[in-house]
Amino acid sequence: MKILFVCLGNICRSPTAEAVFRATAARELPELALTVDSAGTAGFHVGEPPDRRTREAAARRGYDLSGLRARVVAPRDFETFDLILAMDRQNLRTLEGRAPADARERLRLFLEFAPQSGMLEVPDPYYGGENGFEHVLDLIEQAALGLCAALRAGEAVPQTRGPHAG
Ligand code: 4NP
Repeated sequence: MKILFVCLGNICRSPTAEAVFRATAARELPELALTVDSAGTAGFHVGEPPDRRTREAAARRGYDLSGLRARVVAPRDFETFDLILAMDRQNLRTLEGRAPADARERLRLFLEFAPQSGMLEVPDPYYGGENGFEHVLDLIEQAALGLCAALRAGEAVPQTRGPHAG
């Protein structure tokens, strides 16, 4: 199972989702072989580590983002990943515009897996205050648990890519 998280810059939301989901899945679904990665739709920060505020907020909850580096979504990602989860609608639309037709059913909003949050988009924290980074973590932790539950139930991934495909 290969899952890609996507935001705009790949220095705040999607690297947080990558690290939080990796840790959550290791705890909740230890038997599942997973590839987890993140990327941005824009290239402003390619090669950079996650934003300092993002790293510090994540570290306070026990997630280490220091080894991650920003990259842009590549055409191959649409072949490689079983599920491509956007942080907001703008990035989902960008992905829909770049994806081949047969990949579109694998594109979703990450917060679909956190219905109890009442939100569908992880707000961009980049130009906001410190509290924005805590809010991003709260939403992502909820969605990471929800995604684990959906994977366990076989509900997250289209049948064509699921564990029983082919
Ligand atoms: P991200 O946040 O998409 O969550 O990584 C942003 C990072 C950088 C910029 C915007 C959003 N930027 O404009 O440079």
